[in-house]
Amino acid sequence: MTINIKKCTLEDSRKLQEISYETFNETFKDQNSPENMNAYLERAFNLPQLEKELTNVSSYFFFIYYNNEVAGYVKVNTDEAQSEEMGDQTLEIERIYIKNQFQKHGLGKHLLNQALEVAMKENKKKIWLGVWEKNENAIAFYKKMGFVQTGAHSFYMGDEEQTDLIMTKTLSEG
Ligand SMILES: CC(C)(COP(=O)(O)OP(=O)(O)OC[C@H]1O[C@@H](n2cnc3c(N)ncnc32)[C@H](O)[C@@H]1OP(=O)(O)O)[C@@H](O)C(=O)NCCC(=O)NCCS
Repeated sequence: MTINIKKCTLEDSRKLQEISYETFNETFKDQNSPENMNAYLERAFNLPQLEKELTNVSSYFFFIYYNNEVAGYVKVNTDEAQSEEMGDQTLEIERIYIKNQFQKHGLGKHLLNQALEVAMKENKKKIWLGVWEKNENAIAFYKKMGFVQTGAHSFYMGDEEQTDLIMTKTLSEG
């Protein structure tokens, strides 16, 4: 078994689109209407949008490979790329997704550690994320990884307003 993490480039846009669709569907289709799912998928993961995000100098995407197959990805944001105005001392994990068949093998933890590494390299003090309040698995994972709830914000899935919990992990004090 080999596990590798690779930083994505613009050339990865189609592969990124594929895994973004697949993992978003797997995660949310049972709890959301097809109309709202499609509206979100088309808005968030169309190629021009992903290409824009891949070339944003304040965002990074990483793929994780399990035996040479892409098994998941993470997107992190710094500075003004963050979804909330948090300033320049924090890093946001905007997306972290492992394909169903590869979950619970430690890959999520590897990707989270990759995000932590970026945060530490850039001297960030905190790492934060928004997670749908109904996504119990992810919330349990984040708690296990040392995140605590520090707030909430609204999120639109199609036309439905949903609540995301904001969870934070402090990397250094002061
Ligand atoms: C959440 C997710 C990224 C976790 O990745 P994963 O590869 O399944 O998790 P790992 O195997 O790395 O688990 C790391 C630790 O968290 C724990 N953990 C993972 N999922 C858990 C759960 N549902 N409940 C309790 N603990 C959990 C593991 O037991 C493990 O603990 P250990 O370090 O003591 O062994 C993955 O399940 C996923 O992609 N889910 C669907 C997409 C999603 O919801 N993304 C988040 C959107 S905000």
